[in-house]
Amino acid sequence: MSIQRRTLGTISHDGSPLEVSALGLGCMGMSEFYGTGDEATGIATIHRALDLGVTFLDTADMYGPFTNERLVGKAIADRRDEVQLATKFGNERAEDGARLGINGRPDYVRSACDASLQRLGVDHIDLYYQHRVDQSVPIEETVGAMKQLVEAGKVRHLGLSEASVDTIRRAHATHPITALQTEWSLFTRDLEDQILPTVRELGIGLVPYSPLGRGLLTGAITSEQALEDGDSRRTAYFPRFQGEALEANLVLVARIRELAGTLGCTPGQLALAWVLAQGDDVVPIPGTKRVAYLEENVGAAAVTLSIEDLAALDAAVPRDAVAGARYGDMSSIDA
Ligand SMILES: NC(=O)c1ccc[n+]([C@@H]2O[C@H](COP(=O)([O-])OP(=O)(O)OC[C@H]3O[C@@H](n4cnc5c(N)ncnc54)[C@H](OP(=O)(O)O)[C@@H]3O)[C@@H](O)[C@H]2O)c1
Repeated sequence: MSIQRRTLGTISHDGSPLEVSALGLGCMGMSEFYGTGDEATGIATIHRALDLGVTFLDTADMYGPFTNERLVGKAIADRRDEVQLATKFGNERAEDGARLGINGRPDYVRSACDASLQRLGVDHIDLYYQHRVDQSVPIEETVGAMKQLVEAGKVRHLGLSEASVDTIRRAHATHPITALQTEWSLFTRDLEDQILPTVRELGIGLVPYSPLGRGLLTGAITSEQALEDGDSRRTAYFPRFQGEALEANLVLVARIRELAGTLGCTPGQLALAWVLAQGDDVVPIPGTKRVAYLEENVGAAAVTLSIEDLAALDAAVPRDAVAGARYGDMSSIDA
């Protein structure tokens, strides 16, 4: 098993795009939100990812909070040169986990970056994203501060997450944006109307998060009870995992499983192959804390879908078929 490379962004401060593995690894669930993880298993998963050529690692200061960056930092301590390291700022949290809101103020951008560099134990971040857009701060000011981080050598490339078309255009005019990270999967296709054509016009790469529908598309989640107590997917924040919506979504997952069977792959691999088939400028970051899942997910890179396979998937899971909003509270999403 080995994995191809893709490039994100066509312009950057020094004119070079960011080359990454075609699939990245989302590290969030190793520390928070999706049940219990432990540091040793998370580190083993990251090491296995690097061995398999999955070198694009995704974290954020708010995961844990703060513990996920420390975990990733520990895992890559003696393998920094192999990694394209992405982290994010802007969802401000206190040490005790309390949420302090979205912060895009220039002073905060600078201090958040220094704190991330320290936790990660690195001298630069390859891709630094604004995690959520701060509606109270003009994007030019936030990206202006991010640009200074590039000039100081602390950050190589800039990214945004969950930004609107207008924000993306204004940000990109301030400093080249290498990647937009936003949710994209067989279950979440809203970005296809406006966001996708915009990033393609501007030469910005797309990093789909939750490409496995937060685990739903793998078929491994068969009921609410299959999730641990304390798993955030059991809360109203994730309506797709609740009651009737979950039941309706599991019918769609059964269809994906059936199609995957005819193609000789798993449902999760089919879901990832679908994202990978959307273009060479697309680099999904499936998340897992386990080596076995990681290995299965890497196998998706070897699944080639024909036009007929893609049409069959479209028929089995029509674009808006999923039940329930992707978040119960969309107030932090830039629209
Ligand atoms: N920018 C943003 O706002 C944002 C939001 C959410 C996530 N993200 C990033 O995107 C990454 C990926 O998204 P995500 O973690 O939310 O969702 P995801 O990748 O769609 O799904 C992750 C879930 O799927 C499970 N899973 C993974 N591979 C599996 C397999 N082969 N078989 C069965 N189950 C499998 C994982 O289980 P285990 O946990 O048990 O391994 C985890 O519960 C995150 O890690 C994070 O870095 C960014």
